[in-house]
Amino acid sequence: MRAESRPIPYRCPHIQASVVDLNAERIAAWNDPDLSKLPFYEPGLAALVDRARGRSLHFSTEVDAAIAAADMVSLSVNTPTKTKGVGAGQASDLRWIEASARQVAACAQGHTIVVEKSTLPVRTAEVVQTILSAAQAADGKTFAVLSNPEFLAEGTAIADLEAPDRVLIGGVDPVAIEALVAIYGQWVPAERILRTNLWSSELSKLTANAFLAQRISSINSIAALCEATGADVQEVARAIGTDSRLGSKFLKAGPVFGGSCFQKDILNLVYLCGHYGLHEVAAYWQQVVVLNTWQQHLIARLVVNRLFGTVTGKRIAVLGFAFKADTNDTRETPAIRICRDLLEEGAQLAIFDPKVGVEQIAADLGVEALVGSEGEVVWQPAADPCAAVCGADAVLLLTEWQQFRQLDWPTLAAEMRQPAWLFDARAVADAAAARAAGLRVWVVGEGEGR
Ligand code: UDX
Repeated sequence: MRAESRPIPYRCPHIQASVVDLNAERIAAWNDPDLSKLPFYEPGLAALVDRARGRSLHFSTEVDAAIAAADMVSLSVNTPTKTKGVGAGQASDLRWIEASARQVAACAQGHTIVVEKSTLPVRTAEVVQTILSAAQAADGKTFAVLSNPEFLAEGTAIADLEAPDRVLIGGVDPVAIEALVAIYGQWVPAERILRTNLWSSELSKLTANAFLAQRISSINSIAALCEATGADVQEVARAIGTDSRLGSKFLKAGPVFGGSCFQKDILNLVYLCGHYGLHEVAAYWQQVVVLNTWQQHLIARLVVNRLFGTVTGKRIAVLGFAFKADTNDTRETPAIRICRDLLEEGAQLAIFDPKVGVEQIAADLGVEALVGSEGEVVWQPAADPCAAVCGADAVLLLTEWQQFRQLDWPTLAAEMRQPAWLFDARAVADAAAARAAGLRVWVVGEGEGR
């Protein structure tokens, strides 16, 4: 059953939770009576907010007051990759964590449990602890720091929250640990709540993401080999996934991994390894990112190659811009690099995504105007797949939205300029129907196949 259609159980009505942010516009969106205005799209989220908002869940810009009133403060600020200074391009920028810790140190009253939820480099808890200790010494306040990394994946976040594989709580203070265990214990079975030391908890998050990302780079590397040899990566994935030691998940070849976590966390790991002089280990993980970038360029090159070596002035319909289905998040989405490469080659793009807005696509592509300096169309948003493919030489499918599995290929093919191509970088379209409708078809990890 999809998360949206399920009733959301009310797990902790006895706990008052305040989500506070300095960004007033964002908080206003969280408080908007129109639930379609929530700051981001996530299946099941609107129903959950609707049910708890104003009762046990509150959104506010009163950061200091919320900290003062809290028994437990969860730090969930962003930790982007540093763009300058030491560790630029790899290390996480911890300025928001540090600022939040300072604010908690200043405003907390009595004893406060501080929970790190942001994904952080290992030993960041030490930074938070040091800042809090200074306040402790000065004002007689007391703090306990816990690490409780988030393993939710976008698109399935509510379902993941309801039934997590595990909850990880790192810390040294047993009373603080049990206080957090008691909250999760309202709905998570005891054996799924793991207690570790602080550093293990922090490193586990980076490692989980690095292993998942590595699996995707691994299967994408094999997809390239399958295309070269005539093997079919979906068959290979199915065959190896039945090995219980390997498991069947995260074996879908595609246009590479995107999202806010994988690349950032691997780069963090690389930086960490380098810092500790483990250069071979750093190089090993760096290669996962190298392969990811290579694959993105590969897809754009393949499109150009199949369209007789040039896409200048040709129209290409791009279906899907989000980094995965069921989210409107475009952070690190492969669509950005692929579209930029095609624009660089002179293609005109018509882009359709069911949830990503035109402003976001413009910001990501760095092309404000839809029309180029000489009046030509550079890229334009399309209202639906049919509008996108109208007059196009090719369709490039980049996100596995459910609706792309059911596209009506005879109707779409009739709108395209022949000979026309379908490039399915997610292997979700009905390739047989597209071929029957007269399209040439390339599928990731399968090539032009059967
Ligand atoms: C990830 C982790 O899964 C989650 O535990 C962590 O808390 C945050 O980072 P998320 O980035 O939301 O979650 O999405 P995920 O489902 O992991 O997908 C990441 C990327 O890998 C997407 O671009 C997706 O399309 C791609 N992917 C995933 C594949 O290409 N093939 C697969 O088989 C699975």
